[in-house]
Amino acid sequence: MKRSQISPGGLEVSRMAYGTWRLLQTQPSPQEVNRRLHECLELGITTLDTAEIYGLYEVELKLGEAFALSPGLRDQFEIITKAGIYVPCSYHPQRRTAHYNATEPRLVKSLEKSLRFLGTDRIDLFLVHRPDWLTRADDTATGLNALLHSGKIGAAGVSNYSASQFDLLNGQMDQPLVTNQIEFHLLRPEPIHDGTLHQCEKSGVLPMAWSPLAGGQLFDLTNPAAVRLALAAESMSPRYNGATLEQLAYAWILAHPSHPIPVIGTNKIERLQLAAGADALVLEREDWYGLWEAAQGRRIP
Ligand SMILES: NC(=O)c1ccc[n+]([C@@H]2O[C@H](COP(=O)([O-])OP(=O)(O)OC[C@H]3O[C@@H](n4cnc5c(N)ncnc54)[C@H](OP(=O)(O)O)[C@@H]3O)[C@@H](O)[C@H]2O)c1
Repeated sequence: MKRSQISPGGLEVSRMAYGTWRLLQTQPSPQEVNRRLHECLELGITTLDTAEIYGLYEVELKLGEAFALSPGLRDQFEIITKAGIYVPCSYHPQRRTAHYNATEPRLVKSLEKSLRFLGTDRIDLFLVHRPDWLTRADDTATGLNALLHSGKIGAAGVSNYSASQFDLLNGQMDQPLVTNQIEFHLLRPEPIHDGTLHQCEKSGVLPMAWSPLAGGQLFDLTNPAAVRLALAAESMSPRYNGATLEQLAYAWILAHPSHPIPVIGTNKIERLQLAAGADALVLEREDWYGLWEAAQGRRIP
């Protein structure tokens, strides 16, 4: 697995990250999660994406238990976590409404909880999960700057921000934001056109692409786009040593000139191995556009 710096002189990450949103779907024991973490390392995937809210606030706890089983394991990963989404659930029954909160005190409190749950004293990269429509950028920046100065986070970034939201916050940071983690895949190519990826390129930061397989929708053959993609992948596959649609879909993301980092979401080891194999695929230009065309169901304009 290749490696990259996420920003100039910044954190080094693996070219693909492992995402833990769905980690608890199979109700794994800490031992099984520990095994998954070792599998990631064997594939060269050292960048781990999580969030306070994942598993309704329980994924970080499970990761912490898994890290505790192997002293030193945590230090082999770059841990990315996010804060800012709060929903009513059994863990927080007092909440009435799902909401965003990117104020200074809330970000600091969430970060402290992530550290406690993960059993670590630092987060390598801390992201604001969603733009909070009720918080001024200077308030969010004050929180992120305080965390950077405390050494509890190594770098700060955002997720699901528009280009202008990124610019506004970035202008108030003591250290520049290092990524914008966005939904980008064959069924959601909008970031190519809406300025988000251009903005990352301009700022010299690598975007992160969440749900790189559209959360599994790429394989839902009731969707005409998925049928067209399956046919396109079948015809391209011999040119790429028998690569599967999922590998071509990862390669499609990796090929964008802003160099996005796909965040892999599978719970299956064989699919994790396939994903890691996509790192070596270099799509020919016509095939990149061919996949775009198959997803859209029309020729490029
Ligand atoms: N920043 C944000 O707002 C945000 C939002 C969402 C996600 N994320 C991050 O992005 C990560 C990845 O998201 P994601 O899980 O949606 O990623 P994804 O890789 O697009 O989707 C994973 C889903 O697709 C299924 N799948 C994979 N290959 C398949 C195949 N060949 N056939 C059928 N189903 C297949 C997986 O099932 P199996 O497990 O059975 O393989 C899993 O349910 C998350 O874990 C999280 O870290 C961030």
